[in-house]
Amino acid sequence: MFGGGADFRADPTGTGAQTANLMGRPAPGQALSGPAGAGTFPSQEGSLSRLDARPRVFVTSDLGVLGLPELLRPVQDHAAVEVWSGDHPPSPEELLQGSHEAEGILCLLTDRIDAALISGSPRLRVISSMSVGVDHIDLPAAEARGIAVGHTPGVLTETTADLTWALLLATARRVVEADCFVRAGRWTKSRRWAPDMMLGTDLHGATLGLIGLGAIGQAVARRASGFGMRVLGWTRSGRAVPGVDAVPLEELLAQADFVSVHVALTPDTRDLLDARRIASMKPGAILVNTARGGIVDEPALAAALSEGRLAGAALDVFAEEPLGPQSPLLNAPKLVLAPHVGSASIRTRQRMATLAVENLVAGLLGRPLVHAAS
Ligand code: GLV
Repeated sequence: MFGGGADFRADPTGTGAQTANLMGRPAPGQALSGPAGAGTFPSQEGSLSRLDARPRVFVTSDLGVLGLPELLRPVQDHAAVEVWSGDHPPSPEELLQGSHEAEGILCLLTDRIDAALISGSPRLRVISSMSVGVDHIDLPAAEARGIAVGHTPGVLTETTADLTWALLLATARRVVEADCFVRAGRWTKSRRWAPDMMLGTDLHGATLGLIGLGAIGQAVARRASGFGMRVLGWTRSGRAVPGVDAVPLEELLAQADFVSVHVALTPDTRDLLDARRIASMKPGAILVNTARGGIVDEPALAAALSEGRLAGAALDVFAEEPLGPQSPLLNAPKLVLAPHVGSASIRTRQRMATLAVENLVAGLLGRPLVHAAS
């Protein structure tokens, strides 16, 4: 639904970026200001002035509190920038509308950059995603067009490992349940301390199994040594990591008290933890996934929790995000849920945004990206 009332804010960032809710269109004659070039919006459909000959860049989010004006400054030396400011992420149609004349896109992991969008954006030369995962981007379609794809590994490694540990601890020691218990007034004088109240599972001295030993898997392993854990690891490449015993996946699942997932979502890892593999986990084990939904079979996990075969689980990522009200996970016991916040610290999100901008600028200038995903 394009072309409704103008919901278009001229340069709210103070940097010359146009912030557009593409549900509407720019008001005729609306001024475009900024450090490099000025013009007016034409009265026809379209959002940036035809008088501005710079390459166009579409930024699919205003990045919330991360300080967009400052972040975008390096882009505006090279491009006319249009920023999505809708109160919802752009739909596929809105994404296409924003990108069809763009030479660069700065997107989030919620934006599906598929073959249709790529073929509908004939000028596109660089896609920069503010994420380490790139499963939302059709990499073969981008590669076939020679479009550079950037992502943001490294800067989020430690923060995501921290969240993994938060979930391991919260699940093992039933922190969320304990909080609800107190708030619900169930902590009563008759049971002010009971030998069997809220019993959990020890992490110290237990065995942690890591599925995937990339940067985040290794950062999780480093933290495990502080808990005196034995660490098993499985990776398709068979990579050796100090302090981690490399084992076949089936052995890891059979032996680990805690299993944590750290592989990217690819055709090879989709449904990696299917019903059969979940059933082969050590009885009473705990499963944590901060990698991607689609790797763990959610109905099978919900069943394993309901039947008490697993002692608990924590998920930060889901096959469909946000999690729908019909998901069997919502009724599963001993399950801690988080809304995909693995990298969500202020400093890390700022670093991710900065790196995404650096990738974008490099791509616009035809230089190698700082971190190319393809
Ligand atoms: C988060 O999931 C990311 O891919 O950055």
